[in-house]
Amino acid sequence: MKAVTTVKEVRELVKEWKKQGLSVGLVPTMGYLHEGHASLIKRAHEENDKVVVSDFVNPTQFGPNEDLASYPRDFERDCKICEEMGADLVFHPEPSEMYHEQHTFVDIDTLSETLCGVTRPIHFRGVCTVVSKLFNIVTPDRAYFGQKDAQQLAIIRKMVLDLNFDIEIVGCPIVREEDGLAKSSRNTYLSTEERQAALCLSRAVRKGQEVIAKGVASADVVASMREIIDAEPLAKIDYVSVVDALDMQPVDTVEKDVLVAMAVYIGKTRLIDNFSFNVD
Ligand code: PAJ
Repeated sequence: MKAVTTVKEVRELVKEWKKQGLSVGLVPTMGYLHEGHASLIKRAHEENDKVVVSDFVNPTQFGPNEDLASYPRDFERDCKICEEMGADLVFHPEPSEMYHEQHTFVDIDTLSETLCGVTRPIHFRGVCTVVSKLFNIVTPDRAYFGQKDAQQLAIIRKMVLDLNFDIEIVGCPIVREEDGLAKSSRNTYLSTEERQAALCLSRAVRKGQEVIAKGVASADVVASMREIIDAEPLAKIDYVSVVDALDMQPVDTVEKDVLVAMAVYIGKTRLIDNFSFNVD
């Protein structure tokens, strides 16, 4: 496995692979890899001849008061995981390699205005921009994203459609800790007490899955989940919502495929979790 820091090096390697007729899978990440990321790399390895992992804490997707500076980083450990999971190349650029002054942005409205977009208004603009750049740098056949960030996945699918990227987007299931907590690089911020409190998210997911059925009012699903989170003193709800699975807009009743998503503060740490419900 190779690790490189420049766009030029990535392009040269990928060009070589393409000349040989090899397929390329891309797994975009912000590093501090865990089993969730590993599952994406493993899947990409199974489905492609070559796998590129990008490891880049993307500054443009963090708001001014968010955790860009403190976001956890451990590149050496990341490389070990990438190699174990079968990656061929890790792209680890400096911000200056990726961004210039007065940079062009890729923006998507509607889908980015609900759920996480309400508290993180510039987040998805940063995500769409960096992912577009990675798509253009790596030109993969397939790119792998986790259902853990369900709104991000829906947005990337729409962006690929709208901007005619010739890339297959593969959505991968949420990987959880044994006790149910969805794996996240941000879980490292949690104290022992908060780690225990964070279980209210996955408990709420399970409750929502019990309550949801075709024709049920979204408000009933949300209320059942809120009750569980409200009972946890360290938890503060940002949102719990039922939205259309494709356009991320709120729905009153569950009549078509939906995403039930939430963001909850545990102390200062903002965690997300979700489940999808298909009516058929
Ligand atoms: P990051 O949070 O590092 O996540 C990278 C990928 O891993 C995303 O597709 C995310 O959904 C997936 N992932 C994270 N936790 C997961 C889990 N528990 N189970 C399954 N998949 C999981 O998402 C980003 O980085 C960035 O926004 C990025 C797309 C790299 C753009 O900067």
